[in-house]
Amino acid sequence: MLKDKNIVLGVCGGIAAYKAADLTSKLKKLGANVYVIMTKSATEFVSPLTFRALSQNDVAVSTFDEPKAMEINHISLADRADVFVIAPATANMIGKIACGIADDMLSTTVMATKAPCVIAPAMNTNMYENPIVQENIEKLKKLGFVFAPPRESRLACGTYGVGALCDVEDIIDYIYYAACKEKTLSGKRVMVTAGATREAIDPVRFLTNHSSGKMGFAIAKAACAMGADVTLVSGKAEIKPPAGARVINVVSAEDMYKVCMEEYKDKDIIVKAAAVGDFKAKEQSGNKIKKDGAAPQIELCENPDILESLGKVKENRTLVGFCMETQDLIENAKKKLEKKNADMICANNLFDKGAGFGTDTNTITIIKRGGETVPLPNMSKEDAAFEILKLAATL
Ligand SMILES: Cc1cc2nc3c(=O)[nH]c(=O)nc-3n(C[C@H](O)[C@H](O)[C@H](O)COP(=O)(O)O)c2cc1C
Repeated sequence: MLKDKNIVLGVCGGIAAYKAADLTSKLKKLGANVYVIMTKSATEFVSPLTFRALSQNDVAVSTFDEPKAMEINHISLADRADVFVIAPATANMIGKIACGIADDMLSTTVMATKAPCVIAPAMNTNMYENPIVQENIEKLKKLGFVFAPPRESRLACGTYGVGALCDVEDIIDYIYYAACKEKTLSGKRVMVTAGATREAIDPVRFLTNHSSGKMGFAIAKAACAMGADVTLVSGKAEIKPPAGARVINVVSAEDMYKVCMEEYKDKDIIVKAAAVGDFKAKEQSGNKIKKDGAAPQIELCENPDILESLGKVKENRTLVGFCMETQDLIENAKKKLEKKNADMICANNLFDKGAGFGTDTNTITIIKRGGETVPLPNMSKEDAAFEILKLAATL
């Protein structure tokens, strides 16, 4: 989604300014055009040359620099921005923006832009917790500025606390959300399950499956981008959860069942993309099962069926299930939709090329209640996630 987008990146004068170089590099790798504006203080920490080389664009520092073309630089940058991001944002810059001060290139350009603006503060904990800074942040949030919250960490000043710049990958997620114009889930609460469950056999071994969590995480990320308040109930997954989602980590199907049966209550849309183990060991051994010549017999029993249980209590919530099959895809998916009382089932065949576990793409057929089928072509899991949620939002 960030390919060919114009990102104006404001860099302020703090130790974390060097991390903005990494942000620039990662945004470029995603195909975005990056235009950097540095404050005068920022140039004390990192040279504009670094950003000029990484962004392959001129770096603006002074409002009164001679522009290359006959245009007013702060206005042309303000107009060009699809998303405006300030990372790191100093207490000083947050204060200036909150008070409408436009006395340097960065604050003047922010004032002139209509683009969505993401602010990633970084500062000493006492500065961050200062009520003046907090009041400024609250004011800007109310005005629609999005904050990529600072992390708790050991800070450059040697203390430990809140104030470290949000992880660069997470800042990119917030930029991705800001770039998304489809906000049909604004005000909605969405629960997504993802990843694989693990069923212990003994303290060292477990039954699981090949789910990477990519599809479910893509849905959670798309839901965040579409403006929803997202809870992600995740089993084992190989990737980082999307920034801003409330993540509840679980291990077994039983754990996921318990969390879902509590969490569904205040949700509007529930998407069950996790690969939940159907079976578990009937008895778990308290100690490691020893190898003693004869292969052990492990008796299995069924796990609770989360989708079916949610189908029984869902009332007017929208319930979306997933169904991975190796044969009779549509027929089995339709049966599942009926049996589980879901509103929509997203079916995919494990044996289709570019679909299934661990891939970045998927080929999904959406089946709606009533039997209408919507076959999606092979596409990235990110794109498929948007298609699924756009349909779910209409139900
Ligand atoms: C070594 C050093 C580190 C600093 N780190 C921060 C910081 O992380 N966050 C912050 O808000 N200010 C920090 N400051 C203070 C700012 O540089 C100062 O408030 C400056 O006026 C900010 O200018 P700007 O907002 O135009 O970039 C630091 C100053 C120094 C000397």
